[in-house]
Amino acid sequence: MRYAIVLMMLASPLAAQDTATRAEGLQAWDQIFAITSHPRCTNCHVAEDRPMWEGLGYGAGAVHGMYVRADESRIGAETMPCRTCHVTSDAANIVPHAPPHIDDAWRLPPAELAWLGKSSAEVCVQLRDPETNDGSDIADLIDHVQTSAFVSWGFTPGAGRSAPDGTVADLARELAIWGGAGTPCR
Ligand code: HEC
Ligand code: HEC
Repeated sequence: MRYAIVLMMLASPLAAQDTATRAEGLQAWDQIFAITSHPRCTNCHVAEDRPMWEGLGYGAGAVHGMYVRADESRIGAETMPCRTCHVTSDAANIVPHAPPHIDDAWRLPPAELAWLGKSSAEVCVQLRDPETNDGSDIADLIDHVQTSAFVSWGFTPGAGRSAPDGTVADLARELAIWGGAGTPCR
């Protein structure tokens, strides 16, 4: 029975939202930006090679301690790999101020996907353009948020960390509406 429900959900593609109006698309974008501008996302989505520790009690603008650098590799391969501390594990994150872990190799996104300090209009233009969004169309972006261990951790980080409002499913739905409306930006 549960299997049948999953199949039904898979059979109703999110792309069915292709009748969204521009106003609905802009409203959906505002919800998307409220998520992508949250520190759980912007602490990794940085242009520089220093991840951030915003929203962890160190004050605004706090960069990652211990002089951690991601370097060109974005995983610190040249200096100290992220995985030295951020181990790959699907165990729950329960210890406050411990390095968070997920079931994937901890790393920074490509610098082109930087969101830290950017306005809604800037991130909007960046995320709709495959030249600056890791070569993704809307279906790819929806697929990424539904399957990325980083995104699901961002919504449920545990260990007393704050999270953006909503769920992964909400974000996927807002992306489908925004895409269906032709990815409008303000
Ligand atoms: C630990 C670092 C990290 C955090 C935290 C993080 N991301 Fe990412 N993000 C990545 C990496 C790395 C990529 C590049 C694709 C990949 O390697 O998975 C990425 C890419 C993306 C993309 C582009 C899709 C693509 O195909 O590359 C989106 C959208 C995204 N992240 C959304 C989010 C959202 C929303 C949050 C917060 C809820 C978030 N990310 C938090 C590391 C992170
Ligand atoms: C020497 C150990 C160590 C290394 C190496 C390390 N980190 Fe961290 N990281 C930590 C600790 C500890 C925390 C938690 C800080 C806190 O909550 O007070 C953390 C937190 C973070 C956060 C904030 C997560 C949040 O809740 O928003 C990000 C982003 C991050 N690290 C990225 C990286 C990246 C990317 C690398 C590799 C380039 C890396 N770290 C390497 C120890 C490390």
